[in-house]
Amino acid sequence: MKTVLVIGSGGREHAIVDAIARSSQVGTIYCAPGNAGIAQLAQTVAIADTDCVALRDFALSHHVDLTIVGPEAALAAGVVDMFRAAGLTIFGHTAAATRIESSKQFAKQLMSEADVPTAAYRTFSDYHQALAYVQAGTFPTVLKYDGLAAGKGVVVADSLEQADTALRSMLLDEVYGEGEVVIEQFLTGPEFSFMCFVSGENVYPMPLAQDHKRAYDDDLGPNTGGMGAYTPLPFITDEDRDFALRHILQPIAKVMAHHGLPLSGVLYGGLMKTPQGIQVIEFNARFGDPETEVILPLLRSDAYDLFYAIASGTTPEPLVWDQQAVIGVVLASKGYPGTYTKGATICGVESFPGKVYHMGTRREGERLVTNGGRVLMCLQSAHTLADARQQLYAALTTIQCDNLFCRHDIAHSALKN
Ligand code: AMP
Ligand code: GLY
Repeated sequence: MKTVLVIGSGGREHAIVDAIARSSQVGTIYCAPGNAGIAQLAQTVAIADTDCVALRDFALSHHVDLTIVGPEAALAAGVVDMFRAAGLTIFGHTAAATRIESSKQFAKQLMSEADVPTAAYRTFSDYHQALAYVQAGTFPTVLKYDGLAAGKGVVVADSLEQADTALRSMLLDEVYGEGEVVIEQFLTGPEFSFMCFVSGENVYPMPLAQDHKRAYDDDLGPNTGGMGAYTPLPFITDEDRDFALRHILQPIAKVMAHHGLPLSGVLYGGLMKTPQGIQVIEFNARFGDPETEVILPLLRSDAYDLFYAIASGTTPEPLVWDQQAVIGVVLASKGYPGTYTKGATICGVESFPGKVYHMGTRREGERLVTNGGRVLMCLQSAHTLADARQQLYAALTTIQCDNLFCRHDIAHSALKN
């Protein structure tokens, strides 16, 4: 029987552990550091997800056959490079290849080289030149800080004043340290997530999903890590998906391999269906969270075989996916994505009729308590999205916690409320 180590502690990693646990070949699953939900399926190990040396030593001493990396931070810290140097098999990209997520400019250069459709852009390190460029253009305009604050530095500016404030903080004040700004054309249309398993130039697509980035109903409130997700997406046609695969995901896999940075994990296309066609908003070098929680339950292929094949550069068996609709809603701590408290008691999770993936929980004695901003992801599947949504919200009453909130309109773009 095989031994697997999963790195990470969120709902995404719970979904990965759950998929691996369904493989008949797997005997032992470890998860570092894991959470209270993951602990029901795997042995949790108290090692931080970026402590590459301790993770490698653990994998060596526990005869781990396959390691799967969830978070970008672990990839960027070089966990894959370190495991490979020790002869271990690991699913995830090298630190150098992970730059497709952490460096906006690097991603833009790759897209330009591979002729992949994305917003027109210019890069600036000088505040005055950047301001002059914005002044000569139209609004809204999109400013993306390209440096150590990667991921937090995206501003959609509706006016020159807003753009000026953002440019000052990005390029003049030392808010983020030294860095550059990518200024790009504002695109419109529904956003969606297209995740693929990638091994070198070979790309194996997953079903499409859509995230809900804003905290409150009707896409109001601040941006979050994602408040819910669903699949399939009725507004994305087979032609759209085919186009994205052939003209976006496959060319990027190819150009990265040509640069000596072959991928060996997940490539996540954050795409937008604009009036001019499908365009790229961003790439991530890992599974999306919460998209993974609605996608991996549909995997009918053996997850160990699949992840092992991608990690070791061999060809997996053709992927088999269930055709069900799946909707998941995130229960988050009140105050998230701002300040929130931890330690609130959660009851009734065992009575929830669908899957519950834990995002931020821990045990305090017998009690399950909140331990993060995003706490639980509750899921329902059905033949249609409408049925899945109805069943999901009806079933949520089984879970009680006085410090959690959720959105009530997951999949609204597909169901028009
Ligand atoms: P990113 O971190 O690049 O994914 O950007 C964060 C969010 O900003 C995206 O999910 C979009 O909603 C928005 N955004 C980014 N780039 C653009 C763009 N070129 N046009 C319109 N919205 C954008
Ligand atoms: N759900 C968005 C992300 O994982 O980046």
